[in-house]
Amino acid sequence: MPARITMLPSGHTFEILAQETILEAGLRAGRAMNYGCSDGNCGGCKARVVSGDVIKTRHHDFALTAQEKSQNTILLCCHSGEGDVVIETPEAEGSHEIPHQKIIAKVRKITLPTPEDIRAVAMVHIKTPRTQRLRFLAGQHVRLDFGDDVAALCAVASCPCDDMNLHFHLPYRRDDAFSEFIFNTLKPTQTVTIEGPFGNFILDDDVKTPLIFVACGAGFAPVGSLIEQAMALDETTPIHLLRSPDPANLRAGPAPEFGFGNDSAPPYLDNLCRSWKDVWDGFEYDTLNDDTTAMIDAASRRARAFDQYRLYLSGPSTWLKTVRDGLVQANVRAEWIVGDDINGYREI
Ligand code: FES
Repeated sequence: MPARITMLPSGHTFEILAQETILEAGLRAGRAMNYGCSDGNCGGCKARVVSGDVIKTRHHDFALTAQEKSQNTILLCCHSGEGDVVIETPEAEGSHEIPHQKIIAKVRKITLPTPEDIRAVAMVHIKTPRTQRLRFLAGQHVRLDFGDDVAALCAVASCPCDDMNLHFHLPYRRDDAFSEFIFNTLKPTQTVTIEGPFGNFILDDDVKTPLIFVACGAGFAPVGSLIEQAMALDETTPIHLLRSPDPANLRAGPAPEFGFGNDSAPPYLDNLCRSWKDVWDGFEYDTLNDDTTAMIDAASRRARAFDQYRLYLSGPSTWLKTVRDGLVQANVRAEWIVGDDINGYREI
């Protein structure tokens, strides 16, 4: 049976999967825990064990004082748990409590679309140094700066629990210098400065509320990260996902090398979304064409099915404004809509 951790004073709980440390499991579950290096060197993840059994899973260079040891203080990045464990550890109360960071990292892998891939989205994997990892919340953005004025705000598509391996979905934009660089020039081992995190496109504490996600094109990057976090929270929340293509990809003019123009193909990572249906009873997934009226209709129908909900919208600026305004006109509660602009971060 997996160990179950209860955090004090917040009362938040999460389970530890095989071979995870308490810190990794907490981050995977979306808990904004205090930490620094993830590697036993800084002491930033100190916590007090109130009850239960913990197991030291890796050596740490950071030295706890005799008093800390006598108070059952441990490093969460070097311990796992057994059975029910209660720990006392502070938790950031929002994105404003996550420290601003600047990290020099390296591109590890770039996966470009094949001619058959209609949605021109590049998958970029960036790896940070072991001693300087990115602390962030699922759904947040960072600034990627490749030098020579090639920089943009991009949503992190991966889980905060793997803070060394950061994944990004970067859409092709014709005549956009950043996009042209990513698709035509970027090579593995390229140095990149990561700055951030930014933004409030994050899950509420109350994840029992039904969640409706609406993503346009690469707006799926932060949305996918939030969905994985919601599923890791071990709740039985209904989760609905609606996706549509990004009109800027499909209508930017002919670009046969990336296969633009055919809007009948499934969105990128469609199989991943379909696989979530198998692992999550309350998960529903639909794809729509580039038709904001149909999207507003589909999303508002889903919202009306629940007494309470949170509706997360992520996509390019124009789409975001149109869909948000349409939803409010369709009587979706404006205060329950959370928006994310993938064309340079801003909140709506
Ligand atoms: S995060 Fe640095 S010691 Fe645990």
